[in-house]
This record gives sequence, structure tokens and C-alpha cells, in this order.
Amino acid sequence: MVRRPPRFSPPACQPLLSRETRRATGVYYTPPEIVRLIVDLTLDSGLERGPLRLLDPACGAGEVLVEPYGRLRARLCTSMSRISITGVDIDSFAVAAARSRLKAMDREFPATNIVAGDALDADLLPPRSFDVILGNPPYVNIRQLAKSLPRKRIEQLRQQFRTARGNFDLYVLFIERAIELLAPGGRCGLIIPNKWTTLDYARLCRELLLERTTIEHVVDFSSARAFAASVYPHVLVFRKEPAAAHHLVQFRDYKRKSCCRIDQRSLSPAAIHLVPALDVESRVTTQPLGQVATLACGTAGYSAQRIARRLIDRNQAEAVSGERLAEFITSGNIDRYRIRLGSVRYLNRDYIRPRLQLNIPELTDAKRRLFTAPKIVIAGMSRRLEAAWDDRGLALGVQVFAASEFSLDPFYLLALLNSKLLSYLFATRYAAKRLSGGYLAINKGQLARLPIRTISARSGDDARRDRRLRELATTWNASHEAEIDQLIYRLYHLSNDEIARVEAHFGGVRATAA
Ligand SMILES: C[S@@+](CC[C@H](N)C(=O)[O-])C[C@H]1O[C@@H](n2cnc3c(N)ncnc32)[C@H](O)[C@@H]1O
Repeated sequence: MVRRPPRFSPPACQPLLSRETRRATGVYYTPPEIVRLIVDLTLDSGLERGPLRLLDPACGAGEVLVEPYGRLRARLCTSMSRISITGVDIDSFAVAAARSRLKAMDREFPATNIVAGDALDADLLPPRSFDVILGNPPYVNIRQLAKSLPRKRIEQLRQQFRTARGNFDLYVLFIERAIELLAPGGRCGLIIPNKWTTLDYARLCRELLLERTTIEHVVDFSSARAFAASVYPHVLVFRKEPAAAHHLVQFRDYKRKSCCRIDQRSLSPAAIHLVPALDVESRVTTQPLGQVATLACGTAGYSAQRIARRLIDRNQAEAVSGERLAEFITSGNIDRYRIRLGSVRYLNRDYIRPRLQLNIPELTDAKRRLFTAPKIVIAGMSRRLEAAWDDRGLALGVQVFAASEFSLDPFYLLALLNSKLLSYLFATRYAAKRLSGGYLAINKGQLARLPIRTISARSGDDARRDRRLRELATTWNASHEAEIDQLIYRLYHLSNDEIARVEAHFGGVRATAA
């Protein structure tokens, strides 16, 4: 059953904009619960210090200024809290809204503290002039930027910012600007897309953060619907000060279900993985999945529409009875070890047991061969890996993957793919690519790298486990699950603590392998 991610309260003030305008300008205001968390993590420990210069460089209607202003007023004298707050936004309507909200809290609040302007403009704010920077910078990718900014301005940004490289996104420039605007030792709390941890364009941004700042907290909101857009955000809190030796970054999900601390010096700018690595490859012999089987995608994205036009509902199938037909499935039809044939939702349309003609020109020979072959099918949209054996020759929609032409027993592979351990390795190694609702963003390249335990010995404990796994997977029923997982923990030589970590990831109790 699909559990819906929680919704946050709407921000108090939201401009009415079309979807296109919102995407082009990155105007998604922050829900109050997230504002409070950013302020808790960034501001409170600095409040006692008295005069404080606080900036939101993309303040919109003041969502992230109202909360700290209330807290400052409760702790500092009025005049000191008034001079503490600065906001900037490029949108003069948003600036007017922010001013009036702050004035509603304090009639004497100086309107000039909220400035209409471009926070990236080097002349607008002097470097090292703020103790705290808070906010939710615009997320606008280079394609959208190219539509809204003149080419000359984009070139200027490339000159001005070290992070404006390749297909950059505006938020990385705001991170670089925040580092520049912070006084030494100052603290910054931003909500940004989780892509900052892995995507190529953000590499220089990671380099800056790792070299020049101490990353204190990363809170993962990827599985929550924080914004009315497909964004999977992190709250990132850092101090402008190089990290001390052995400084530990605290990483947790927003529900506090899991928390881990990672030595900042162990993080690489190539990609930041914020979970302690479970390195199975160094202790047992493994081969990447892509080397023990041929991996393929179902229907390619570019032909999805054309294939959809060729689908035939069950009740129409008699009309083409002479044709070669294959039943058609999508990710939603695949469970662990089982394929549920029945209703299929594909490109926003519902079908009942749809079939696909195999002799249509839209299918390449390779796809036709793949569809008719015996294979393991793997769901591309799920919260943990789900794979099933297909010996019926099913046709596959987009976001379904297939493994065929095995050099290992396919039922052994099926047991591994459906195990908690492989799902754990997948989820933690590609943690930054999680989608809303806790779905894994599965792609073929990542599947191909999954470490598959290979066993050459014909006798001994591992050979016995291998045989037993095949037997359990071939005759699978739900009562086999626990034994399969335990056998796999032992095959990969996991310690009891590591087993407990994997089990905890699935909400289980501490388990000890047999
Ligand atoms: C994601 S919204 C966040 C607004 C507010 N901080 C909040 O959290 O609710 C991003 C804001 O950045 C503003 N913005 C975009 N580019 C900007 C720039 N170059 N300088 C200042 N503000 C900018 C937009 O007008 C928008 O109000």
C-alpha cells in the first residue's frame, strides 16, 4: 500500500503564479515547519551573543525573516533586533509583502532593511558582513535561466562565480554568495535540492563547502512533500570556518527516524554520500550485477507514447487473434517474487490486462527478443528493490528493467535482488537520489553496479547457503523471507551490528544471523 508523505502547512503568503512562471523564477515559499527547523539549527546558539547581522538573500514575502525576528525581539532590545534583520529579493512585490509583514509585528520596523535587488550583484552587499544567513534560494536550472535572463547576464554570472560551471543551477551560486557574505565563523542555514550532494554541476560547490566551511547538519526532506514541485530538498547548515580534524557532520531524515554522523574529512567533492558506507566488496568476492547478467530497460522513454498507442485491452485482443501478442506490465505490476497481472496504469490511462503486438515496427529486434525471453523483471518505481521471474515473455513499460543472459543461477540472483541487504546497499549508496514518498530513483547504471556475491567453491558453508537460497527462491513463499535474508547476511559476511543496521533501516528489530 502506498503511504502518502505528510504535507506541511502552506506558507502564510504565496503569490498567485502560473506553474511556468514559478518554475522559471524558483518562487516556492517555505512551509513554516521547515522555517522553524532552519532557524532552530542555525540561529539559536548565536542568539546570546547580542548584536547580530542576519540576512535572507532571497526573502520572498519574508517567510524566513518573520520567525527569527520574533525570536530576536524576545531576547534582545527592540532597537538591536530591528537593525539585525536584512532581506533582499529581486521581486519588488515580494519585498513589499515582506515589509508589511514585519511592520505588522513592529510598526517601527525600518522598511529600508528589506531591499529590492539582486543578491548576486557584487555591489549590493559587502563581503563578510553577516553573522547569520538563512533562506530558501531560488532553484532555477540553466535551461530555465536561459529563458528568463539575457545571455550577457549568464556570462557575467559565469565570470563572477566559481560555481557557475556547466549546467549549473542558481541555488549553487547562492551558496557561494552566502559563504562570501558571511563573516568568519558565521552560520548559514538553507533549504536546497538534494542534488547538491551528487550532481556534476554542483561539484565546485561541494569543494567550497568541504574546504571552507564546517558542515554541521544535513536534514533530509526528500521523502516529504515540502514544496508544490518535484523537489527533494535537504536543509543544509554550515559555519564559515574550515572543519576541524574529525568534525562529524550530522545527517538525519526530517522525521528523526535515522541519524548518522560522518567525518567531514572523509567526504569527497566527487559525490557526498551521507551514510556510513557498508563496504561488502572488500570482504567477499563480488561482481557487479551488470557483469553477471545483461541489463536492459523495458520500453525506452522516447517510444513510450508510440507503444501506448499500440496497447490492446483484454477485450479487444480477440480482434487481433492471429497476431503475436505479449502481456504488458509496468513497475506497479511487479512485487517481490511475483507479477500481478491485472490492471495496468500507463501514461495516465488505465488498462485491463493489456497486450502488445510484437510485430509492430515500433519495437526493435532487440526489444522483441528481450520481451519474449525468460528474464528477471525489476520494478523501477518502488521503495525497495522488487524483482520477479518472468517465463511468460512479458512486454515491459518504461521504468521497468530486465536482467537476462545470466552467468549465475537466475533464482540465486532473484533472492539477492529481493533481499533487504541489496535494497539497503542501493538506498544508502544512492541516498541522495531518493524521490518523494521514499521511492528509490532506480536507473540501469545504478542497478548494474550492485555487488553480487559470487561463490566458486562447491562445498563449504557458502556453497551450502548458495544451494539453499536457490531452493528457497524457486519455491518462494512469504515464510521464506526471513531465512533468505539471514543466509544473505552470512554470504556477505556482515557482522551482527551491520545486520542490525540493515534491519533498522526496514523498521525491524535487531536480528542475529543464523
Ligand atoms: C524559493 S523562493 C523563497 C522565498 C522565501 N525565502 C521563502 O523561503 O519563502 C526564492 C525567492 O528568490 C527570489 N530571487 C530569485 N532570484 C533572485 C536574486 N538574484 N536575488 C534575490 N532574490 C532572488 C525570488 O523572487 C523568490 O522570492
